[in-house]
Amino acid sequence: MDLAGKKIVLGLTGGIACYKAAEFTRAMSKAGASVQVVMTSAAMHFITPVTMQGLSGKPVFTDQWDARIGNNMPHIDLTRDADAIVIAPCSADFIFKLAHGACDDLLSTLCVARPATVPLLVAPAMNVEMWQNPATQRNLTQLLEDGIQLLGPDAGEQACGEVGMGRMLEADQLLEEVIASFQPKLLKGKRLLLTAGPTFEPIDPVRGITNLSSGKMGYAVARAAYEAGAEVTLVSGPTALTTPYGVRRISVQTAQQMHDIVMAQLAGADSGTDVFVAVAAVADWRVANASAQKLKKNADGSAPELVFEQNPDILATVAALPKPPYCVGFAAESENLLQYGEVKRIKKNVPLLVGNIGHDTFGKDDNQLVLFDADGHTSLPRAGKQQLARQLIAAIASRLI
Ligand code: CTP
Repeated sequence: MDLAGKKIVLGLTGGIACYKAAEFTRAMSKAGASVQVVMTSAAMHFITPVTMQGLSGKPVFTDQWDARIGNNMPHIDLTRDADAIVIAPCSADFIFKLAHGACDDLLSTLCVARPATVPLLVAPAMNVEMWQNPATQRNLTQLLEDGIQLLGPDAGEQACGEVGMGRMLEADQLLEEVIASFQPKLLKGKRLLLTAGPTFEPIDPVRGITNLSSGKMGYAVARAAYEAGAEVTLVSGPTALTTPYGVRRISVQTAQQMHDIVMAQLAGADSGTDVFVAVAAVADWRVANASAQKLKKNADGSAPELVFEQNPDILATVAALPKPPYCVGFAAESENLLQYGEVKRIKKNVPLLVGNIGHDTFGKDDNQLVLFDADGHTSLPRAGKQQLARQLIAAIASRLI
Protein backbone atom coordinates (compact mmCIF):
# COMPACT_ATOMS: atom_id res chain seq x y z
CA MET A 1 0.00 0.00 0.00
CA ASP A 2 2.39 2.65 -1.31
CA LEU A 3 -0.10 5.50 -0.77
CA ALA A 4 -1.48 4.34 2.60
CA GLY A 5 -2.84 7.30 4.54
CA LYS A 6 -2.27 9.79 1.69
CA LYS A 7 -4.99 12.27 0.81
CA ILE A 8 -4.96 13.25 -2.84
CA VAL A 9 -7.08 15.94 -4.46
CA LEU A 10 -7.54 14.81 -8.06
CA GLY A 11 -8.54 17.56 -10.48
CA LEU A 12 -10.02 16.71 -13.90
CA THR A 13 -10.07 19.27 -16.70
CA GLY A 14 -11.52 18.99 -20.19
CA GLY A 15 -9.93 16.36 -22.39
CA ILE A 16 -10.60 12.94 -23.87
CA ALA A 17 -7.98 11.55 -21.45
CA CYS A 18 -10.62 11.91 -18.70
CA TYR A 19 -11.37 8.24 -19.35
CA LYS A 20 -7.93 7.39 -17.95
CA ALA A 21 -8.70 9.38 -14.79
CA ALA A 22 -11.31 6.77 -13.84
CA GLU A 23 -8.71 3.99 -13.84
CA PHE A 24 -6.19 6.28 -12.14
CA THR A 25 -8.63 7.00 -9.29
CA ARG A 26 -9.15 3.29 -8.77
CA ALA A 27 -5.40 2.64 -8.85
CA MET A 28 -4.74 5.32 -6.22
CA SER A 29 -7.53 3.98 -3.98
CA LYS A 30 -6.15 0.45 -4.29
CA ALA A 31 -2.73 1.82 -3.29
CA GLY A 32 -4.29 3.11 -0.07
CA ALA A 33 -4.97 6.77 -0.93
CA SER A 34 -8.17 8.63 -0.22
CA VAL A 35 -9.07 10.54 -3.36
CA GLN A 36 -11.16 13.72 -3.45
CA VAL A 37 -12.22 14.48 -7.02
CA VAL A 38 -12.78 18.03 -8.27
CA MET A 39 -13.94 18.55 -11.88
CA THR A 40 -14.17 21.55 -14.16
CA SER A 41 -17.30 22.05 -16.24
CA ALA A 42 -15.30 21.09 -19.37
CA ALA A 43 -14.29 17.78 -17.72
CA MET A 44 -17.97 16.95 -17.23
CA HIS A 45 -18.40 16.86 -21.03
CA PHE A 46 -16.07 13.84 -21.07
CA ILE A 47 -16.94 11.87 -17.91
CA THR A 48 -19.63 12.27 -15.29
CA PRO A 49 -19.25 13.06 -11.59
CA VAL A 50 -21.34 9.92 -10.98
CA THR A 51 -18.53 7.71 -12.32
CA MET A 52 -15.89 9.61 -10.36
CA GLN A 53 -17.93 9.51 -7.14
CA GLY A 54 -18.50 5.80 -7.59
CA LEU A 55 -14.78 5.14 -8.01
CA SER A 56 -13.50 7.53 -5.33
CA GLY A 57 -16.27 6.80 -2.82
CA LYS A 58 -16.70 10.54 -2.14
CA PRO A 59 -18.99 13.25 -3.48
CA VAL A 60 -17.33 15.13 -6.34
CA PHE A 61 -16.96 18.93 -6.20
CA THR A 62 -17.51 20.93 -9.38
CA ASP A 63 -18.67 24.35 -8.24
CA GLN A 64 -16.96 27.02 -6.19
CA TRP A 65 -20.32 27.96 -4.60
CA ASP A 66 -20.97 24.40 -3.38
CA ALA A 67 -22.78 24.78 -0.05
CA ARG A 68 -21.95 21.26 1.19
CA ILE A 69 -18.79 22.62 2.82
CA GLY A 70 -19.64 24.17 6.21
CA ASN A 71 -18.07 27.56 5.61
CA ASN A 72 -18.94 27.50 1.90
CA MET A 73 -15.27 27.70 0.97
CA PRO A 74 -14.46 24.50 -0.92
CA HIS A 75 -11.49 26.24 -2.57
CA ILE A 76 -9.85 26.44 0.89
CA ASP A 77 -11.14 23.45 2.82
CA LEU A 78 -10.58 20.76 0.18
CA THR A 79 -6.79 21.13 0.24
CA ARG A 80 -6.06 21.82 3.88
CA ASP A 81 -5.40 18.21 4.84
CA ALA A 82 -4.25 17.09 1.36
CA ASP A 83 -0.84 15.53 0.75
CA ALA A 84 -0.85 16.46 -2.95
CA ILE A 85 -3.01 17.89 -5.72
CA VAL A 86 -2.85 16.03 -9.03
CA ILE A 87 -4.45 17.47 -12.18
CA ALA A 88 -5.05 14.61 -14.64
CA PRO A 89 -5.86 15.32 -17.38
CA CYS A 90 -4.53 18.86 -17.44
CA SER A 91 -5.64 20.70 -20.59
CA ALA A 92 -3.65 23.40 -22.44
CA ASP A 93 -6.19 25.90 -21.14
CA PHE A 94 -5.75 24.83 -17.54
CA ILE A 95 -1.93 25.00 -17.91
CA PHE A 96 -2.45 28.60 -19.11
CA LYS A 97 -4.62 29.29 -16.07
CA LEU A 98 -2.08 27.80 -13.65
CA ALA A 99 0.73 29.79 -15.25
CA HIS A 100 -1.20 33.02 -14.73
CA GLY A 101 -2.79 32.32 -11.36
CA ALA A 102 -6.35 32.44 -12.70
CA CYS A 103 -9.15 31.95 -10.18
CA ASP A 104 -12.31 31.64 -12.28
CA ASP A 105 -13.65 28.26 -11.18
CA LEU A 106 -13.32 25.92 -8.20
CA LEU A 107 -10.31 23.92 -9.45
CA SER A 108 -8.20 26.91 -10.54
CA THR A 109 -9.03 28.84 -7.35
CA LEU A 110 -8.23 25.79 -5.24
CA CYS A 111 -4.80 25.50 -6.92
CA VAL A 112 -3.97 29.16 -6.27
CA ALA A 113 -5.24 28.86 -2.69
CA ARG A 114 -3.27 25.69 -1.88
CA PRO A 115 -0.84 25.85 1.04
CA ALA A 116 2.79 26.18 -0.14
CA THR A 117 3.49 22.80 1.48
CA VAL A 118 1.03 20.91 -0.75
CA PRO A 119 2.75 19.76 -3.96
CA LEU A 120 0.93 20.30 -7.25
CA LEU A 121 1.47 17.67 -9.98
CA VAL A 122 0.00 18.07 -13.45
CA ALA A 123 -0.42 15.46 -16.19
CA PRO A 124 -0.77 17.34 -19.50
CA ALA A 125 -3.08 15.87 -22.14
CA MET A 126 -3.58 17.55 -25.50
CA ASN A 127 -3.12 17.43 -29.25
CA VAL A 128 0.49 17.51 -30.47
CA GLU A 129 0.13 20.95 -32.11
CA MET A 130 -1.37 22.36 -28.92
CA TRP A 131 1.56 20.88 -26.97
CA GLN A 132 4.17 22.31 -29.34
CA ASN A 133 2.53 25.72 -29.54
CA PRO A 134 4.99 28.34 -28.22
CA ALA A 135 2.33 29.77 -25.90
CA THR A 136 1.82 26.34 -24.26
CA GLN A 137 5.58 25.84 -23.97
CA ARG A 138 5.94 29.29 -22.37
CA ASN A 139 3.24 28.42 -19.85
CA LEU A 140 4.87 25.06 -19.10
CA THR A 141 8.20 26.78 -18.43
CA GLN A 142 6.39 29.04 -16.00
CA LEU A 143 4.84 26.04 -14.22
CA LEU A 144 8.26 24.45 -13.76
CA GLU A 145 9.66 27.75 -12.47
CA ASP A 146 6.81 27.87 -9.98
CA GLY A 147 7.75 24.43 -8.63
CA ILE A 148 4.84 22.57 -10.24
CA GLN A 149 5.79 19.02 -11.24
CA LEU A 150 4.93 17.70 -14.71
CA LEU A 151 3.95 14.04 -15.13
CA GLY A 152 4.70 13.21 -18.75
CA PRO A 153 3.25 13.67 -21.29
CA ASP A 154 4.11 10.80 -23.55
CA ALA A 155 4.44 10.66 -27.33
CA GLY A 156 2.29 8.42 -29.47
CA GLU A 157 -0.97 8.02 -31.29
CA GLN A 158 -3.59 10.53 -30.19
CA ALA A 159 -7.38 10.34 -29.97
CA CYS A 160 -7.62 12.90 -32.80
CA GLY A 161 -5.65 10.57 -35.10
CA GLU A 162 -2.47 12.66 -35.10
CA VAL A 163 0.80 11.36 -33.69
CA GLY A 164 3.22 13.10 -31.33
CA MET A 165 3.78 14.51 -27.84
CA GLY A 166 0.79 15.26 -25.68
CA ARG A 167 -0.67 11.86 -24.80
CA MET A 168 -1.44 11.65 -21.12
CA LEU A 169 0.46 8.94 -19.23
CA GLU A 170 -1.42 5.73 -18.54
CA ALA A 171 -3.05 5.22 -15.14
CA ASP A 172 -0.34 2.86 -13.84
CA GLN A 173 2.40 5.28 -14.93
CA LEU A 174 0.63 8.17 -13.22
CA LEU A 175 0.37 6.05 -10.09
CA GLU A 176 4.12 5.30 -10.18
CA GLU A 177 4.83 9.02 -10.55
CA VAL A 178 2.59 10.00 -7.63
CA ILE A 179 4.20 7.32 -5.43
CA ALA A 180 7.66 8.52 -6.55
CA SER A 181 6.80 12.10 -5.61
CA PHE A 182 6.57 11.03 -1.96
CA GLN A 183 9.99 9.30 -1.88
CA PRO A 184 13.04 11.17 -0.55
CA LYS A 185 15.35 12.31 -3.38
CA LEU A 186 18.41 10.55 -1.96
CA LEU A 187 20.07 10.02 -5.38
CA LYS A 188 19.20 13.33 -7.00
CA GLY A 189 21.68 14.15 -9.75
CA LYS A 190 23.24 10.65 -9.64
CA ARG A 191 23.46 8.19 -12.52
CA LEU A 192 22.81 4.55 -11.80
CA LEU A 193 23.42 1.59 -14.10
CA LEU A 194 22.12 -1.83 -13.24
CA THR A 195 21.72 -5.33 -14.61
CA ALA A 196 18.65 -7.47 -13.94
CA GLY A 197 16.92 -10.68 -14.89
CA PRO A 198 18.41 -13.94 -16.13
CA THR A 199 20.57 -14.35 -19.19
CA PHE A 200 19.77 -16.84 -21.95
CA GLU A 201 22.62 -18.78 -23.52
CA PRO A 202 21.65 -20.40 -26.84
CA ILE A 203 22.26 -24.06 -27.58
CA ASP A 204 20.75 -23.70 -31.05
CA PRO A 205 18.28 -21.19 -32.59
CA VAL A 206 15.33 -22.55 -30.56
CA ARG A 207 16.89 -23.84 -27.32
CA GLY A 208 19.01 -22.41 -24.60
CA ILE A 209 20.14 -22.41 -21.00
CA THR A 210 18.70 -19.92 -18.54
CA ASN A 211 17.71 -19.73 -14.87
CA LEU A 212 14.70 -18.97 -12.68
CA SER A 213 15.42 -15.26 -12.08
CA SER A 214 12.25 -13.26 -12.82
CA GLY A 215 13.99 -9.87 -12.77
CA LYS A 216 11.57 -8.58 -10.11
CA MET A 217 14.25 -7.58 -7.58
CA GLY A 218 16.35 -5.78 -10.20
CA TYR A 219 13.35 -3.96 -11.63
CA ALA A 220 12.33 -2.96 -8.09
CA VAL A 221 15.82 -1.53 -7.49
CA ALA A 222 15.64 0.37 -10.81
CA ARG A 223 12.28 1.83 -9.85
CA ALA A 224 13.47 2.75 -6.34
CA ALA A 225 16.51 4.51 -7.81
CA TYR A 226 14.30 6.51 -10.19
CA GLU A 227 11.98 7.37 -7.30
CA ALA A 228 15.05 8.61 -5.41
CA GLY A 229 15.80 11.03 -8.26
CA ALA A 230 18.54 9.11 -10.13
CA GLU A 231 18.89 8.81 -13.89
CA VAL A 232 18.58 5.06 -14.34
CA THR A 233 19.72 2.71 -17.12
CA LEU A 234 18.60 -0.90 -16.78
CA VAL A 235 20.37 -3.59 -18.80
CA SER A 236 17.93 -6.46 -18.69
CA GLY A 237 17.97 -10.10 -19.68
CA PRO A 238 14.70 -11.63 -20.95
CA THR A 239 11.84 -10.98 -18.50
CA ALA A 240 8.07 -10.56 -18.73
CA LEU A 241 8.15 -7.36 -16.66
CA THR A 242 7.06 -3.84 -17.58
CA THR A 243 9.88 -1.31 -17.49
CA PRO A 244 9.39 1.02 -14.51
CA TYR A 245 8.27 4.49 -15.65
CA GLY A 246 11.20 6.85 -16.15
CA VAL A 247 13.80 4.08 -16.43
CA ARG A 248 15.78 3.60 -19.66
CA ARG A 249 15.91 -0.10 -20.50
CA ILE A 250 18.31 -1.86 -22.84
CA SER A 251 17.28 -5.47 -23.50
CA VAL A 252 19.87 -8.22 -24.00
CA GLN A 253 19.83 -11.96 -24.19
CA THR A 254 23.26 -13.38 -23.36
CA ALA A 255 25.83 -12.67 -20.65
CA GLN A 256 28.30 -11.52 -23.31
CA GLN A 257 25.76 -8.98 -24.65
CA MET A 258 25.04 -7.81 -21.11
CA HIS A 259 28.78 -7.40 -20.51
CA ASP A 260 29.28 -5.49 -23.78
CA ILE A 261 26.39 -3.09 -23.14
CA VAL A 262 27.47 -2.42 -19.55
CA MET A 263 31.05 -1.71 -20.63
CA ALA A 264 29.83 0.56 -23.46
CA GLN A 265 27.69 2.49 -20.97
CA LEU A 266 30.70 2.97 -18.72
CA ALA A 267 33.13 3.79 -21.53
CA GLY A 268 34.59 7.26 -21.78
CA ALA A 269 35.91 9.33 -18.94
CA ASP A 270 32.71 11.32 -18.67
CA SER A 271 30.17 8.48 -18.73
CA GLY A 272 29.34 9.85 -15.31
CA THR A 273 27.91 6.64 -13.85
CA ASP A 274 27.96 6.99 -10.07
CA VAL A 275 26.60 3.60 -9.06
CA PHE A 276 26.59 0.14 -10.68
CA VAL A 277 24.25 -2.48 -9.22
CA ALA A 278 24.61 -6.02 -10.57
CA VAL A 279 21.33 -7.74 -9.78
CA ALA A 280 21.25 -10.01 -12.83
CA ALA A 281 21.54 -13.75 -12.41
CA VAL A 282 24.19 -14.04 -15.11
CA ALA A 283 24.80 -17.50 -16.53
CA ASP A 284 28.29 -18.56 -15.52
CA TRP A 285 28.80 -20.56 -18.71
CA ARG A 286 27.76 -20.36 -22.34
CA VAL A 287 27.67 -23.13 -24.91
CA ALA A 288 30.88 -22.83 -26.91
CA ASN A 289 29.64 -25.13 -29.67
CA ALA A 290 26.14 -23.66 -30.07
CA SER A 291 24.64 -24.80 -33.35
CA ALA A 292 23.55 -22.37 -36.06
CA GLN A 293 20.77 -24.81 -37.01
CA LYS A 294 18.28 -26.65 -34.84
CA LEU A 295 19.87 -29.80 -33.43
CA LYS A 296 18.17 -33.00 -34.56
CA LYS A 297 17.80 -36.17 -32.50
CA ASN A 298 20.47 -38.75 -33.30
CA ALA A 299 19.25 -42.05 -34.77
CA ASP A 300 21.37 -44.00 -32.25
CA GLY A 301 19.74 -42.17 -29.29
CA SER A 302 22.93 -40.40 -28.24
CA ALA A 303 22.69 -36.89 -26.75
CA PRO A 304 24.49 -33.92 -28.31
CA GLU A 305 27.82 -33.07 -26.70
CA LEU A 306 27.70 -29.54 -25.36
CA VAL A 307 30.96 -27.80 -24.61
CA PHE A 308 30.83 -24.97 -22.08
CA GLU A 309 33.05 -21.95 -21.67
CA GLN A 310 32.95 -19.38 -18.92
CA ASN A 311 31.19 -16.04 -19.42
CA PRO A 312 32.91 -12.79 -18.46
CA ASP A 313 32.23 -11.72 -14.88
CA ILE A 314 30.54 -8.35 -15.45
CA LEU A 315 30.62 -7.17 -11.86
CA ALA A 316 34.25 -8.12 -11.29
CA THR A 317 35.23 -6.43 -14.58
CA VAL A 318 33.47 -3.19 -13.60
CA ALA A 319 34.91 -3.28 -10.07
CA ALA A 320 38.40 -3.66 -11.57
CA LEU A 321 38.14 -0.50 -13.73
CA PRO A 322 40.69 2.20 -12.85
CA LYS A 323 37.89 4.52 -11.66
CA PRO A 324 34.93 2.27 -10.97
CA PRO A 325 31.49 3.54 -10.03
CA TYR A 326 30.29 2.56 -6.54
CA CYS A 327 29.70 -1.17 -7.13
CA VAL A 328 26.97 -3.22 -5.52
CA GLY A 329 26.81 -6.97 -6.10
CA PHE A 330 24.10 -9.51 -5.38
CA ALA A 331 24.72 -13.05 -4.21
CA ALA A 332 22.09 -15.70 -4.69
CA GLU A 333 23.12 -18.57 -2.44
CA SER A 334 21.35 -21.75 -1.46
CA GLU A 335 22.94 -22.10 2.01
CA ASN A 336 25.46 -20.50 4.43
CA LEU A 337 24.51 -17.00 3.30
CA LEU A 338 26.41 -15.15 6.04
CA GLN A 339 29.64 -16.99 5.32
CA TYR A 340 29.46 -17.04 1.51
CA GLY A 341 28.24 -13.42 1.30
CA GLU A 342 31.25 -11.93 3.00
CA VAL A 343 33.64 -14.16 1.03
CA LYS A 344 31.96 -13.16 -2.25
CA ARG A 345 32.11 -9.43 -1.41
CA ILE A 346 35.85 -9.68 -0.93
CA LYS A 347 36.34 -11.95 -3.97
CA LYS A 348 34.41 -9.55 -6.23
CA ASN A 349 36.16 -6.57 -4.62
CA VAL A 350 32.96 -4.53 -4.13
CA PRO A 351 32.16 -2.20 -1.21
CA LEU A 352 28.61 -3.55 -0.84
CA LEU A 353 27.16 -6.98 -1.50
CA VAL A 354 23.52 -7.95 -1.09
CA GLY A 355 22.90 -11.56 -0.15
CA ASN A 356 19.72 -13.53 -0.55
CA ILE A 357 18.69 -17.17 -0.74
CA GLY A 358 18.12 -17.83 -4.43
CA HIS A 359 15.35 -20.44 -4.32
CA ASP A 360 13.55 -18.35 -1.65
CA THR A 361 13.33 -15.28 -3.86
CA PHE A 362 13.35 -16.21 -7.57
CA GLY A 363 9.93 -15.31 -9.00
CA LYS A 364 8.48 -14.21 -5.65
CA ASP A 365 7.15 -10.77 -4.72
CA ASP A 366 8.92 -10.65 -1.38
CA ASN A 367 12.41 -11.38 -0.18
CA GLN A 368 14.83 -10.89 2.70
CA LEU A 369 18.28 -9.43 2.28
CA VAL A 370 21.58 -9.26 4.10
CA LEU A 371 23.87 -6.32 3.30
CA PHE A 372 27.60 -7.01 3.58
CA ASP A 373 30.14 -4.19 3.72
CA ALA A 374 33.56 -3.61 5.25
CA ASP A 375 31.95 -3.09 8.69
CA GLY A 376 30.06 -6.40 8.76
CA HIS A 377 26.53 -7.29 7.84
CA THR A 378 23.00 -5.89 8.35
CA SER A 379 19.78 -7.85 7.83
CA LEU A 380 16.74 -6.42 6.08
CA PRO A 381 13.80 -8.57 7.24
CA ARG A 382 11.33 -10.17 4.85
CA ALA A 383 9.23 -7.58 3.00
CA GLY A 384 7.93 -6.77 -0.48
CA LYS A 385 10.70 -6.42 -3.06
CA GLN A 386 9.79 -2.77 -3.75
CA GLN A 387 10.06 -1.91 -0.06
CA LEU A 388 13.40 -3.74 0.23
CA ALA A 389 14.64 -2.01 -2.92
CA ARG A 390 13.88 1.40 -1.33
CA GLN A 391 15.79 0.37 1.79
CA LEU A 392 18.69 -0.78 -0.37
CA ILE A 393 18.74 2.53 -2.27
CA ALA A 394 18.81 4.39 1.06
CA ALA A 395 21.71 2.16 2.17
CA ILE A 396 23.59 2.87 -1.08
CA ALA A 397 22.92 6.63 -0.89
CA SER A 398 24.23 6.78 2.67
CA ARG A 399 27.50 5.15 1.54
CA LEU A 400 28.21 7.52 -1.37
CA ILE A 401 30.68 10.25 -0.59
N1 CTP B 1 27.82 -11.55 -11.89
C1 CTP B 1 28.22 -10.88 -13.02
N2 CTP B 1 28.70 -11.58 -14.09
C2 CTP B 1 28.80 -12.92 -14.03
C3 CTP B 1 28.40 -13.62 -12.87
C4 CTP B 1 27.90 -12.90 -11.82
O1 CTP B 1 28.11 -9.65 -13.08
N3 CTP B 1 29.28 -13.57 -15.08
C5 CTP B 1 27.34 -10.78 -10.75
C6 CTP B 1 25.88 -10.99 -10.41
O2 CTP B 1 25.06 -10.05 -11.08
C7 CTP B 1 25.87 -10.75 -8.91
C8 CTP B 1 27.23 -11.24 -8.47
O3 CTP B 1 28.04 -11.20 -9.62
O4 CTP B 1 25.83 -9.39 -8.58
C9 CTP B 1 27.27 -12.60 -7.85
O5 CTP B 1 26.77 -13.56 -8.70
P1 CTP B 1 26.80 -15.11 -8.32
O6 CTP B 1 26.42 -15.90 -9.49
O7 CTP B 1 26.07 -15.34 -7.06
O8 CTP B 1 28.32 -15.29 -8.00
P2 CTP B 1 29.43 -16.04 -8.71
O9 CTP B 1 30.59 -15.15 -8.75
O10 CTP B 1 28.98 -16.59 -10.01
O11 CTP B 1 29.77 -17.17 -7.66
P3 CTP B 1 29.22 -18.68 -7.54
O12 CTP B 1 28.26 -18.93 -8.66
O13 CTP B 1 30.45 -19.45 -7.60
O14 CTP B 1 28.54 -18.72 -6.19
